Amino acid sequence: MNNIRLDISKAKIFLKEGVFESYGPRAMAALKAVEDGTRAGNDFLGWVNLPSSLTPEFLADIKAEAQLLRENCEVIVVAGIGGSYLGSRAVIEAMSNSFQWLTNKGENPTILFAGNNIGEDYLAELCEFLKDKTFGVINISKSGTTTETALAFRLLRKQCEEQRGKEMARKVIVAITDAKKGAARITADQEGYKSYIIPNNVGGRFSVLTPVGLLPIACAGLDIEQLVAGAKAMEEATSTNIPFDKNISAQYAAIRNAIYMDLGKKIEILANFQPKLHFIAEWWKQLYGESEGKDQKGIFPASVDFTTDLHSMGQWIQDGERSIFETVLSVETTKHSVLFPHDDENLDGLNFLEGKRVDEVNKMAELGTQLAHVDGGVPNIRIIVPEISEYYLGQIIYFFEKACGISGYILDVNPFNQPGVEAYKKNMFALLNKPGYEAESKAIQERLANKK
Ligand code: PA5
Repeated sequence: MNNIRLDISKAKIFLKEGVFESYGPRAMAALKAVEDGTRAGNDFLGWVNLPSSLTPEFLADIKAEAQLLRENCEVIVVAGIGGSYLGSRAVIEAMSNSFQWLTNKGENPTILFAGNNIGEDYLAELCEFLKDKTFGVINISKSGTTTETALAFRLLRKQCEEQRGKEMARKVIVAITDAKKGAARITADQEGYKSYIIPNNVGGRFSVLTPVGLLPIACAGLDIEQLVAGAKAMEEATSTNIPFDKNISAQYAAIRNAIYMDLGKKIEILANFQPKLHFIAEWWKQLYGESEGKDQKGIFPASVDFTTDLHSMGQWIQDGERSIFETVLSVETTKHSVLFPHDDENLDGLNFLEGKRVDEVNKMAELGTQLAHVDGGVPNIRIIVPEISEYYLGQIIYFFEKACGISGYILDVNPFNQPGVEAYKKNMFALLNKPGYEAESKAIQERLANKK
């Protein structure tokens, strides 16, 4: 099978000759550090060889548990935030029929997501929706203490036990968390829930190929073996054995840093022309934002869905401040075929497209956009994806993860921590008078009183 491919020709033209190539040795040294574990964050490199180390027995156990949930639940709620849900949501939304959730007809349970916000209306409406449903819960939290997820889990567990009885609830609630610590672990052990361990050395945003991603994806009826096979192919294709001129993760890391450092472009926009890929971009934003935005450095990761957003953000991208570059997920083949229909009146003047595949029109929109944006001074990177399938989604995930590690090291930050995420939590707990936060509460009250 072919691999995903990288086309940087429309980005390189913005750089002086030789600049991109000069990043090659840095990218390969960074890749070596990712593989050898010789730089900061080396205790979080468990994801690097994950695809090749997952055993058939492990995948069979995930599939068996997914089958049990599928047989006993019309709806499965995945409770988790950040790296604990974005990867599975990205794969499930990319692969599922866009409208199945409306009808709930079909062989798959509806997968819903919660615990990723503190929206009271969202939670109220979710609980209301679940009232007459047989539902189960996958509670995902590495720390086991994240407020958003813990709140949703409290509500869902209570409702599940009330609706389905304690014994059935025990069967359809699964925990994915740390081996030893955290409330999620303690509850799972006390209640006898089936549980999976998130390896210590795999951070949330790199955890799609652990039970964090694999169990919800399998529950949606998707082929996790193909997902892992795709990731494994990319693990091989981006290893240190593959030289820079053929190593697409090293090249992607190099080109984005060259554009950032040498051209001063500070925003990377991940664009797609397939609405199903919306959550791949959400996952990607967390991966790159949380990994690289440190020490007052880092490219700001943004995203758009085209052609939808050409009618909202298109003007800015074409003509606004020239601080952006664009990376396009370009899908070669669609699953379905729809032909542009004939209309006798032809009032919209579009009969010249009659009989053409809709995807052909989409492809011309994509090419036209690339030409226009390059003319407008936007460097363009293309990631060419043969089709949206589990196999290629596995490739995309691993490709971006590997490139992210390399890119973070080129930027000289630790891509595997996220110290900045704690700041809002500290303030929120102080404002809510959490026990143990007395000093912070006092300081914050003074600050608010002084309007500082
Ligand atoms: O990438 C990360 O580490 C974070 O985004 C976490 O996944 C997120 O904060 C959720 O944390 P936890 O799984 O501990 O609830």
